[in-house]
Amino acid sequence: MVLQKVVDCLYEDIEKYTWVGIYLVRGETLVLAAWRGTQATEHTTIPLGKGVCGAAACTGTTELVNDVSKDKRYLSCFLSTRSEIVVPIKKTRIVRGEIDIDSDSPNAFDAGDVLFLEKVADMLSGHI
Ligand code: SME
Repeated sequence: MVLQKVVDCLYEDIEKYTWVGIYLVRGETLVLAAWRGTQATEHTTIPLGKGVCGAAACTGTTELVNDVSKDKRYLSCFLSTRSEIVVPIKKTRIVRGEIDIDSDSPNAFDAGDVLFLEKVADMLSGHI
């Protein structure tokens, strides 16, 4: 399945991407559709509006959290996570899913990651 292939590529090719997942919007909930990392997350479903993931789904804009310990919205999955990026996947401007990436390094994500992952999200929008 294409979602799993994309998750695998991102995880294998970019070392600072410690955990990579794709959530899809199903009604009022984000549902984990594919993931890769050393541990499974307990957050396989997230209500829209909850956590950093739910925020990105509601606003339709990329969320970049440089230090997860300082973001009150953050839903903790892994003790080792220090920073996170969430990039919405949109079809005709409506959010249909998102790419969620955790890193064990603080400040792991920059404008280059935002540009790159927004392009990946654009490419994925035809496949979900
Ligand atoms: N940290 C996310 C939850 C998903 S896990 O990172 C896999 C959040 O705050 O929404």
